[in-house]
Amino acid sequence: MSSISQRDIPFFNYKEAFMHYEEEFVAIFKDILHRGAYIMQKDLQNFEEHLAQFLGVKHAIGVANGTDALIVALQAAGIKAGDEVLFPSHTMVATAGAIVYAGGIPVPVDIGPDHMMDPSDLERAITTKTRAIMPVQVNGRTCNMDEIQAVADKYDLFIVEDAAQGLGSKFKGKYAGTFGKAGTFSFYPAKVLGCLGDGGAVVTNDDQVADRVRMLCDHGRRADGEIRIWGGNSRLDNLQAALLDFQLPSYAATMQRRRHIAAMYEERLHSVAQVVLPPGPNADPDHFDVYQNYEIEAQRRDDLREYLKANGIGTIIQWSGKAVHQWPGLGFKIKLPKTEAFFARCIMLPMNMVITDEDVEYICAKICAFYGK
Ligand SMILES: Cc1ncc(COP(=O)(O)O)c(C=O)c1O
Repeated sequence: MSSISQRDIPFFNYKEAFMHYEEEFVAIFKDILHRGAYIMQKDLQNFEEHLAQFLGVKHAIGVANGTDALIVALQAAGIKAGDEVLFPSHTMVATAGAIVYAGGIPVPVDIGPDHMMDPSDLERAITTKTRAIMPVQVNGRTCNMDEIQAVADKYDLFIVEDAAQGLGSKFKGKYAGTFGKAGTFSFYPAKVLGCLGDGGAVVTNDDQVADRVRMLCDHGRRADGEIRIWGGNSRLDNLQAALLDFQLPSYAATMQRRRHIAAMYEERLHSVAQVVLPPGPNADPDHFDVYQNYEIEAQRRDDLREYLKANGIGTIIQWSGKAVHQWPGLGFKIKLPKTEAFFARCIMLPMNMVITDEDVEYICAKICAFYGK
């Protein structure tokens, strides 16, 4: 194994990520330039229609980014000042920040064995002020939405899903983002469906929520110009929408490629006792995962990271190595043992459309070598 020649595998290669579409993207840009079609034009409408069709929902609304998508989705769904919203602390701070910006109070809950929001920790966190649950479809996997829905029903709470990382993933055949009152997505460049900058979307089957989201993102206006409510500006640029719309038809192939990489990691690393892998692509028929990230738990994590770096392999310890509730400046007082144990051991391996099968072989060989396998 040690005779394999050194490779250079960045964790994510922003320069290479879209290079295979260079010609098509330049053509799209020229077309938009020649039409002068920058804001709220047909390309945005097309993308919204196609995204809604893909997910089987009534409405998809393009917004400026995944964080704004969360804020307007919560506001449109009816969050009021002082309402508590339960969220898993294994997430980007954007999840909790959006709750705060929408006027709510974020209440962190622990994760279960699959690293997702633990439905059995929800009841502990419920108070008379609890109004909503925000599951996070983290790393391209959908939570057990049956169990979360059961708690929501029992306490009359509504669900807004943070599916920023979950486009295309499913639980029991239903897409992430389509379970609650609204669901949100991010199209940040490193997402499975990414654009050349910031982008996001809100999806919903609720006409009123959709109407409010559209107004909140466009200065409180209806399409005919009538101003109904206070709003801001969080529109998805027409150009970004066109680039996303162009990529949507090949999304099935994109998901398949990522699932193939996950299967390779699974096959080559499952017998390494020092690592805990995420569920494999065929581990559970209830789940269809799209592997936005491939996040493992590893013994001697920091040494492994250094070793992989010395061998040309980029890794990431997500969100600067802390769960949301662990940042002292954010004022949380709670301890979440499973989340904290996870963050002491988690590390993300390269998972993207640029790496080759040979790269994955090399990464796995190096991890095996590190643990003396
Ligand atoms: C789980 C989660 N929620 C929200 C966001 C925010 O999305 P954006 O960066 O598009 O604002 C992200 C972005 O990475 C995310 O991973």
